[in-house]
Amino acid sequence: MNAIVVVDRNWAIGRDGNLLVHLPGDLKYFKEKTLGNVIVYGRKTISTYPGGKPLPGRTNIILTRDQAYENEGCIICHSKDEVLAEVAKYDEEKVFVCGGAETYELFFDDVDTFYVTKIDEEYEADRFFPDLDAKGYQVTWESEPQEHKGTKYRFLKYVRNDNR
Ligand SMILES: NC(=O)c1ccc[n+]([C@@H]2O[C@H](COP(=O)([O-])OP(=O)(O)OC[C@H]3O[C@@H](n4cnc5c(N)ncnc54)[C@H](OP(=O)(O)O)[C@@H]3O)[C@@H](O)[C@H]2O)c1
Repeated sequence: MNAIVVVDRNWAIGRDGNLLVHLPGDLKYFKEKTLGNVIVYGRKTISTYPGGKPLPGRTNIILTRDQAYENEGCIICHSKDEVLAEVAKYDEEKVFVCGGAETYELFFDDVDTFYVTKIDEEYEADRFFPDLDAKGYQVTWESEPQEHKGTKYRFLKYVRNDNR
């Protein structure tokens, strides 16, 4: 399966429950990659979406320990195993882990391909993604440099280094 994430130079991903910066070009890229596919994310991340609603045009799988949690149009799972059983119904290339930090961490070893938007800035943050460069993961594709209001970023694709 895949993960998709936007990080800064320190692999920071969030602060105070929010993204670090608003990059319309990255939101467009996220939409292009995930539309028609399956997205898996933690309950805290969906609570940051407008109205706490699922993203349209995608199969939304939400992870929570709260047995009473409901969200119309979403598949709710209460453990990693429940998520893995659910995503096994789909082609794994169509499944994207979309955060946040706890959720990325939980599925890290199940992900083969990482779509990383790297921002050339350093932000204050309280949530981080594992440093794929330090882990020796391979960059197999890199976009042209992008820019929004002076903020420079690039899209990269990483694959695991152990061919599992
Ligand atoms: N930069 C990016 O690409 C990106 C992407 C997504 C999110 N973010 C940022 O990441 C931050 C949120 O991340 P987060 O780590 O705080 O939260 P999260 O991963 O979105 O959600 C955590 C929640 O998931 C549920 N959960 C986690 N492990 C579970 C398990 N083993 N079994 C069942 N449920 C489980 C729990 O929900 P309950 O509490 O309901 O039980 C837990 O509180 C925000 O700042 C957000 O903006 C960044």
